[in-house]
Amino acid sequence: ITIEVIDRDGARHEVPWEEDQVLMEALRDNDLPVLASCGGSASCATCHVFVPEDIYRTLPDRSEDEVDLVEEAPGYRPESSRLSCQIRHDARLEGMTVILAPTRT
Ligand code: FES
Repeated sequence: ITIEVIDRDGARHEVPWEEDQVLMEALRDNDLPVLASCGGSASCATCHVFVPEDIYRTLPDRSEDEVDLVEEAPGYRPESSRLSCQIRHDARLEGMTVILAPTRT
């Protein structure tokens, strides 16, 4: 599928997302600045993104670890913040717009 990603400078990117990837991998493999320093184990929060609120409501719930991390992450949005390493590919996400969350400075 293809999604749209808005980077931290406000630039828009068309990003292909393969079936065997979590969202973080699709972002990273397409040269978006997602550090993913924990490698996708929900322990670093550098893959934090904002998903549209209507999509957020359709995704599987966040784990306790994910909740703890995103609540502390810069720019936290209760109805939108997700760790992109915890979002599995789903054909229903075709065309969604994802915004990269601010990094810790
Ligand atoms: Fe570290 Fe997602 S890559 S929390």
